[in-house]
Amino acid sequence: MPYPQLNERFQQIRRTTELICAPLTPEDMVVQVMVDASPPKWHLAHTTWFFETFLLKPYLPQYKEFNPDFNFLFNSYYESIGKRLQRTNRGNITRPSGAEVLEYRYYVNAHMLQLLDLELDKAVLDFLELGLQHEQQHQELLVTDLKYTLGTNPLFPVYMEKTYNQGAIIDQQWLPINEGVYTIGFSGEGFSFDNETPAHKVYLESYCLSNRLITNGEYIQFIEGKGYETSHFWLMEGWEWRKKEQVEAPLYWFKQDNTWFQYTLAGFQEVDILAPVTHISFYEAYAFAKWSGFRLPTEQEWEVASQLYPFSNHSVFAGSFLFHPQRETEFNLLGNCWQWCYSNYNPYPNYQQAEGALGEYNGKFMINQMVLRGGSCATPQSHIRNTYRNFFHPVKRWQFSGIRLAKSL
Ligand SMILES: [Fe+2]
Repeated sequence: MPYPQLNERFQQIRRTTELICAPLTPEDMVVQVMVDASPPKWHLAHTTWFFETFLLKPYLPQYKEFNPDFNFLFNSYYESIGKRLQRTNRGNITRPSGAEVLEYRYYVNAHMLQLLDLELDKAVLDFLELGLQHEQQHQELLVTDLKYTLGTNPLFPVYMEKTYNQGAIIDQQWLPINEGVYTIGFSGEGFSFDNETPAHKVYLESYCLSNRLITNGEYIQFIEGKGYETSHFWLMEGWEWRKKEQVEAPLYWFKQDNTWFQYTLAGFQEVDILAPVTHISFYEAYAFAKWSGFRLPTEQEWEVASQLYPFSNHSVFAGSFLFHPQRETEFNLLGNCWQWCYSNYNPYPNYQQAEGALGEYNGKFMINQMVLRGGSCATPQSHIRNTYRNFFHPVKRWQFSGIRLAKSL
């Protein structure tokens, strides 16, 4: 076995995806409550399709495809791989059954282990690493998608009983950064997505970044201070969105007898005023920042601060499935909530899109989306970096997205 560590890591990551589904019912596995939230069964199959399409078919001699129809059903967005099911129809696939999808996973796993018994070129090993990182990305989407499905069920089902950190949070402080020329972007050893490269210089004016995320309690002050009803805190598009969608609080929040409650994966609970606010759109993050008298950081400011101040990776998603933002008892730049940046998702200077189908992984999404940094409680711990760039349209709220403020000096 030429790659024992890779072999072990492959099996561990594949198993983790299935473990996330363990508390779900067969019905939970199939539905697609909104277009963004893919069914768990689809995630299980699509991550398998990725290994089959990009590794087994081209690189394992005599590999026989499990089922040719699956290329249509489980291709997500790769135009160069052929025709595919419309995204809106992922919840309509009652066949193949869940059992057949698991059979597909085990078939592909067994063949992947055969592939790992061969001597492989660096290019194949790079694809394999991408396949593993892709599956970890989908683990986070699986969690946030199933939260949406359960959280919009009037019975508010409990996914997993958990207790949360009840500690005292750190005092809010401003971390100062002097004006200057800095280098951001990924370089060196290890994995990164192409959108994190190349490393390049940026000039920043002096600024400060907050040492902690905005809490639910602070966000309630914004709500009670008529933040949602005051147009001048909002970007025009955000204000129109808020009115049209009648948004008055974060996603999953409900007010009963003057108390705020929220759906969590541990069920319906009173909002913890010391925990970070999450499930808010870019527009809400922007309005909160404006109301507070501060602003959102740019992604360049966020990344340079991460180079200058020691921080912790707070994600507990490495064996423990505690999918809930935690009270911050130290400077947790990573692994609690994604942080909206006031940066469009654009290519870095001299960005090179990969050739072929994998060039479709990131580059084609570089329009009309905002960058988020830092990872969340649903991001696997080994999958987060300080150069990682996530991106969503400014109205999206189903990810664990929160607010870290900045200010100019
Ligand atoms: Fe994918």
